Amino acid sequence: MFVADGIDEPREISSMPGVFQHTLDSLTRAATEAVAAGVGGLMLFGVPRTEDKDANGSGATDPDGILNRALRVLRDELGDSTVIMADTCLDEFTDHGHCGVLAADGRVDNDATLTRYVDMAVAQAESGAHLLGPSGMMDGQIAAIREGLDDAGRQDTGILAYSAKYASAFYGPFREAVGSSLSGDRRTYQQDAANRRESLREVDLDLDEGADMVMVKPAMSYLDVLREVADMSTVPVAAYQISGEYSMITAAAQNGWIDRDAAVLESLLSIRRAGADIVLTYWAAEFAARL
Ligand code: PBG
Repeated sequence: MFVADGIDEPREISSMPGVFQHTLDSLTRAATEAVAAGVGGLMLFGVPRTEDKDANGSGATDPDGILNRALRVLRDELGDSTVIMADTCLDEFTDHGHCGVLAADGRVDNDATLTRYVDMAVAQAESGAHLLGPSGMMDGQIAAIREGLDDAGRQDTGILAYSAKYASAFYGPFREAVGSSLSGDRRTYQQDAANRRESLREVDLDLDEGADMVMVKPAMSYLDVLREVADMSTVPVAAYQISGEYSMITAAAQNGWIDRDAAVLESLLSIRRAGADIVLTYWAAEFAARL
């Protein structure tokens, strides 16, 4: 779910028909409905106002940043009735749109970014998140966040590690969803679509570093990777059916080219068959109610 600062009404994302940038009020309503429908958890992304973005992504660690505010509202409203998850990544909050802070040469500075992730993680835990989803693919991010949470007395906050996250063309609609400022790509930190073994290594590292769950992302074009991760993981495995997967099925269905419900169900089934214990999908509330 997306929550945006500075809007008075929920705004439909044009590249993701049926998905909204929420106000705090509409988020609360949609989250309450989702829980009633039986979803196992809610993953939250914040969309700050453009003028609030900066090079360090300050809004990510500000207790009054939109994502931290939304976490407080949802935790107050929903308590422990569902798992409240937060995207732990700077890209929505940086003016350059990258998932980390930049070095003088313009490249993402891995280790300087870890410090920001730790501060962000602690702020999110203190705002009420049960589970954090570090999605930035920096090396060492799970160990750094785990240690930072423990030092802050947040041993009870879990980590869903985006372990095998590929640099994918299918993230396209998400860029509109979060008003991303990115030009260029994330190939220096996300994985190469051609590389299968590296995912298993990334999962191993994240498990060593303390991940409570691991994730493969995107889902559809990486079901082989998902199967292998499911076979070797010692913790629950999630798969993320991403924005482009949602938009492709939605657009084809709107054109009358495919049967929407059958296609959605088949896509979810295939993710499950490939070994996912947990599925992140923009259809969660709708299909949880039916399933
Ligand atoms: C990064 C992040 C992204 C998504 C989730 N977290 C974008 C990216 O890596 O480029 C994509 C989700 C989707 O496409 O549905 N914070």
